[in-house]
Amino acid sequence: MFDIQAVRSDFPILARQVHGQPLVYFDNAATSQKPQRVLDAIAHYYEATNSNVHRGVHTLSGEATDAYEGARVRIGQWFGVTDPGEIILLRGATEGLNLVAQVLATRLSPGDEVLVGETEHHANIVPWQQLATTHGIIVTKIPVNARGELSLTEAKALAVPGRTKVIAVGHVSNAIGAINDIPGFVQLAREVGAYSVIDGAQAAPHMRVNVAELGADFYAISAHKLCAPTGIGVLFGRRPLLEELPPWQGGGDMIERVSFSGTTFNVLPWKFEAGTPNIADTIGFAAALDYLDSIDFDAAIHHEETLHATLIQAMQAHPKIQVLGSPNKWVSVCSFNVVGAHPTDVGTLLDQLGFAVRTGHHCAMPTMEHFGLAGTARASLAFYNTREEIERFMNALDRVIGMLTD
Ligand code: ALA
Repeated sequence: MFDIQAVRSDFPILARQVHGQPLVYFDNAATSQKPQRVLDAIAHYYEATNSNVHRGVHTLSGEATDAYEGARVRIGQWFGVTDPGEIILLRGATEGLNLVAQVLATRLSPGDEVLVGETEHHANIVPWQQLATTHGIIVTKIPVNARGELSLTEAKALAVPGRTKVIAVGHVSNAIGAINDIPGFVQLAREVGAYSVIDGAQAAPHMRVNVAELGADFYAISAHKLCAPTGIGVLFGRRPLLEELPPWQGGGDMIERVSFSGTTFNVLPWKFEAGTPNIADTIGFAAALDYLDSIDFDAAIHHEETLHATLIQAMQAHPKIQVLGSPNKWVSVCSFNVVGAHPTDVGTLLDQLGFAVRTGHHCAMPTMEHFGLAGTARASLAFYNTREEIERFMNALDRVIGMLTD
C-alpha cells in the first residue's frame, strides 16, 4: 500500500511554511522536491569520496569513478537501456537537445526539413531555429489539435521522404500535460528516413519510460524533475548513430589522444562528455531512482493519477475557471485561467496562501499563441501531493477568485 504520510516525511521541505501557511507545492513540472536519501547521497559523496573521475590512480579517484559509472548503469536500468555507451550524462534535457541539434547539423543540408511539435518547450524549438539560421534548414511545426495533443495525422501529411530529416517532439507537453503518441512519431520518422528526437523531460517523472522499447534515435531527460538534483540529465542515443556522429564539445575526457598533428576521440559515452562531469549529482540521481523503487514507483504513479483526475474534474466543473486542453491521456498538469483575472495575479495571491504554482508562458510561447493566451497559471502535481491539498487548493482558488473578479 502507498503510505502517503510516510512518503511525505521523506521530503524535509514539505514541512515548511510559506507566508505563515503550510506549503502546498504544486510546481512539480518546473522541478520536483528531493527526498532525504538524495540529500544524504550527495553529502556523503562530498564528505567521503570527492575526487575527479577517470583521471587518478589514487583510491578516491577510483571510488569516485566506480560510483559515477555505477550510477550511469543504474540510470540505464531504470530506462531500459543496458549499453552504457548509449547513456550520455549532461546538464539536462535542454543540453541534450542542443547537443543533438548541433551534431545532426553536420548531417543536414540547406532545404532539409525538421518537423517540430507546436507544443514543444522552447528547448526543443530554438536549437532547430538556430540551425535554420546557420545551416539553412526549414523548421515546420506539427500542429496541436483542439485537445492539446500533437496531431500524428497532420505530421503524416507533412512528412516527406528525402526532405524531412528530423522529427522532434515532446513525450509530454509541459504547458498542458498531454501525452503524445511517441511510438507513432518514432514509426513515422522511420518510415520517412528521419531522425526521431524526443524530449522526455515531462514524461519521465510520471510514467515508466522504456527508452529501448520506444526505439527513438534520441531521448532526453532532466533528472531534477525526478526527485534528483538540478544540473544533471541524460541523452539516450542509439549506438550506431552516436558512433557515426562527430563529438560536440572538446576538452578533457572526450579525447583518446591529442596532438598538434591530429586528435582522436574517446569511445562512447565519453566521446560526448567533455570536461569534469557532474559527479555528485549523477550519484544523487541514482539515489533518487533507488528511492523511487523503495516507495513502489508504480503505486506512486497510481496515487498521482488519481489526484490529477480529481483536480481536473474540480477545475473543469468550476464556472470561473478555464482549463487548457483536454487530452485523451495526460499527466500531472492543470494549466488554467480564471475568467477575468491575470494569471500572475492568481499565482501571486495563491502564493500568499501558501500555494506554489507557476504562471506565465511556461517556456512554451507557441502553445500560448496557438490557444490565444498570454499565459496561464499551472498547477502540476507529484506523488507526494495529497487529496487534502487539492481540497485546500480549490477553496483557496475561490478566495482568490472572490478577490480578483466581481
Ligand atoms: N520546463 C520547466 C517547466 O515547465 C521549467 O516549468
